[in-house]
Amino acid sequence: MERDPADKPVALVTGASSGLGDSIVRRLAAGGFRVLAVARRRERLERLARELARSGEVETLALDVTSDGAAERAVRAATQAFGRLDCLVNNAGAGMWGRVGDTDDATLDAMIEIGLKAPFRFCRAAVQVMGAGSSIINIGSTFGLVGGLKSAAYCATKAGLIGLTQSLAVDYGARGIRANLIAPGVIRTEMTEASWDTDWFRRTNQEMTPFHRNGTARDVANVVCFLASEEGSYVHGQVIALDGGWTSTKYLSREALTCERVAQAAPEGGGR
Ligand SMILES: NC(=O)c1ccc[n+]([C@@H]2O[C@H](COP(=O)([O-])OP(=O)(O)OC[C@H]3O[C@@H](n4cnc5c(N)ncnc54)[C@H](OP(=O)(O)O)[C@@H]3O)[C@@H](O)[C@H]2O)c1
Repeated sequence: MERDPADKPVALVTGASSGLGDSIVRRLAAGGFRVLAVARRRERLERLARELARSGEVETLALDVTSDGAAERAVRAATQAFGRLDCLVNNAGAGMWGRVGDTDDATLDAMIEIGLKAPFRFCRAAVQVMGAGSSIINIGSTFGLVGGLKSAAYCATKAGLIGLTQSLAVDYGARGIRANLIAPGVIRTEMTEASWDTDWFRRTNQEMTPFHRNGTARDVANVVCFLASEEGSYVHGQVIALDGGWTSTKYLSREALTCERVAQAAPEGGGR
C-alpha cells in the first residue's frame, strides 16, 4: 500500500550545498525522508532539489546559519513546507587554521558562531517542534576527539558540540528525542580539497588510517540515515567516530612525529 506522503518523516539538513551535506540530503531522500536543504549558495541547493525531484521531496532555504533568527526561520520553513520535523542534521561548518597563539578574536568568534552557536540555536528551535521518535545528529569531527595541528578553534568547537549533544540526550531522551554526534575522519570535500594531495596531509591522515580506503561523504550519509531511522532507535547520546580506525591507532608516521615540520607545511588559509 502506498504510504501517505504526510506520514513521511521530515529532515532539516544544514550545509547541504556541497560535500557531506549534499550526500546526506541524497541519502535521506532515498531513505524516504522529505528534506529541507539549507546553505547559503541558493543555486547549488536548487540544483540538488531538481536532481532529486523524481525520487524525493526536497525544499530549499538559502540562508546563513549564523545570521539572526536563522534557526527559527529554518525550522519554521520545514514545518510550513512539510507539517512536521523529525530529524535535524547540524552539518554546516568551516575550517580555519591556527594555533591558540595565532588565533585572533575575529577568527575565534567566527569559528564559534558556525561551529557551536548555530548548531546550538538550531537544536533549540528544533526541540520546540519535534515529537517522540525524532532525532538530532550533529556532525563533529575526529578533531573534536583529539587535537589537530594548527586547528585550535576548530577542535574547540567540535569538542563543544559533543557537550551539546550529550546535554540534549540527557534533557530530551524522556521526550523520545534522540541526539548523537558523528565524528568523521578526513573526507575529500571542498573543505579538504586544498590540502588533500599534500604530503603532510596524506601522511598525517590517509597514511594513519588502518582501514584500507579513505572515508567518503556517502559513509557519513549512511550513518546519518541509520541514526535518523527506526533502526537506530536505541542509539542515544553517542559519539560515533567514523574514521576507518584513525582514532584507534597510536602509530605515527615519521612526519607526524616531527610535528613542527608538519605544522610548518600546513597552509595558513583553507581548512580541514
Ligand atoms: N571533510 C572532512 O574531512 C570533514 C571531517 C570531519 C568533519 N567534517 C565536518 O563536516 C561538515 C561538512 O563539511 P564538508 O567537508 O562537507 O565541507 P564543505 O564541502 O565545505 O561543506 C560545508 C557546508 O557548510 C555550508 N556552510 C558553511 N558556512 C555556512 C553558513 N554560515 N551558513 C550556512 N551554511 C554554511 C556550506 O554551504 P554554503 O557555502 O553554500 O553556505 C557547505 O554546504 C562540517 O561541519 C565539517 O566540519 C568534515
